[in-house]
Amino acid sequence: MTKSKELHPLARKCLNNLSRPEVLYQRQALEKQCYFDLSSSINPYSPGPGAYPDLSCTQIKKAYRQHLTEEITEDEMLICRGITDGIDLLMRAFCEPGQDSVLIPEPTFFMYEYWAKANGVSIDKTKLIGEKFNRVDVSVVAQSGAKIVFLCSPNNPVGTVLEIEHITEIARATKALVVVDEAYIEFAKEPSSVRLLASCPNVVVLRTFSKAWGLAGMRCGVAIAHSSVINALSLVLGPFAIPENTQGFVSRYLEGRNSVMSQVACIQAERTRMASELKRSRRVQRIFPSEANFLLVEFDDAKQIHEVLLKRRIIVDPAWQHIPNTIRISIGKEIANNELLAAISSLR
Ligand SMILES: Cc1ncc(COP(=O)(O)O)c(C=O)c1O
Repeated sequence: MTKSKELHPLARKCLNNLSRPEVLYQRQALEKQCYFDLSSSINPYSPGPGAYPDLSCTQIKKAYRQHLTEEITEDEMLICRGITDGIDLLMRAFCEPGQDSVLIPEPTFFMYEYWAKANGVSIDKTKLIGEKFNRVDVSVVAQSGAKIVFLCSPNNPVGTVLEIEHITEIARATKALVVVDEAYIEFAKEPSSVRLLASCPNVVVLRTFSKAWGLAGMRCGVAIAHSSVINALSLVLGPFAIPENTQGFVSRYLEGRNSVMSQVACIQAERTRMASELKRSRRVQRIFPSEANFLLVEFDDAKQIHEVLLKRRIIVDPAWQHIPNTIRISIGKEIANNELLAAISSLR
């Protein structure tokens, strides 16, 4: 077996010696430049994308590599069906049901807990510390027996980032995989944790095309990690998971970087405007500093504000189950943002 097929030592033992025949067939067809496909029992008269899609998603990887500031090889990337799929793949590749655990610093995105429960994996929780909820107690990480530590930066629902030095400290304190969910990284000033891969091989970065890239409907994301982690994830990814239409659309879209980055700049400017306008309302108690495309706002009575907004047909995300009296407000287009500001300023 070639070096690139080694499995990470933390991978579940049941993955050893598993192989995927479809991977072999597709590689052979490519290497031998086969012209006639009489291997996959498909309708040869199909007018649409009749053949199975490229398993390794080469076009997306090539297009996305151009957007990374670090040198990442294709073996260090896995294209999955969004970050939410990536989280599930990590659980299934690394955590033995009924035996292993994951560590989740809260408040954070609910999907880490969801997929742990769905996969029979135990959950250890710790509180994010500091005024901005952006530090983890490193001694908790060091003492934890968890297989995976989930970090989210910028964090949902708070919007603050974990500094790269702090993530390094966390990664060095443990042998567990340290997963950094960077769903909102394009909106942040803080650099990506992809740069840590060279010095901390236990770091896994999850990226998505759903947020800044505006392609949530495509269900497409990227896991970036050491090739031994990617090999383990590939073994639990559904066969031919990324449809051909998605691969074609996403790879072409990634070439139009300039327009996406100018949209990100607009959203950042609106975020600043919204924060300063909201501060004027006496119903607003606190606005968390955000490096994402939303603001976490503490009101005097968040439930009442939520009802008022719903009556005006504006939907926002209640976050009071995480931090009392808070609502997470996504930054929309100016017209929607103004509607929300008008609704809040009309309240006495
Ligand atoms: C922190 C975080 N990660 C991941 C996701 C979902 O990403 P995807 O659409 O790629 O599954 C979200 C969506 O709200 C999120 O807030």
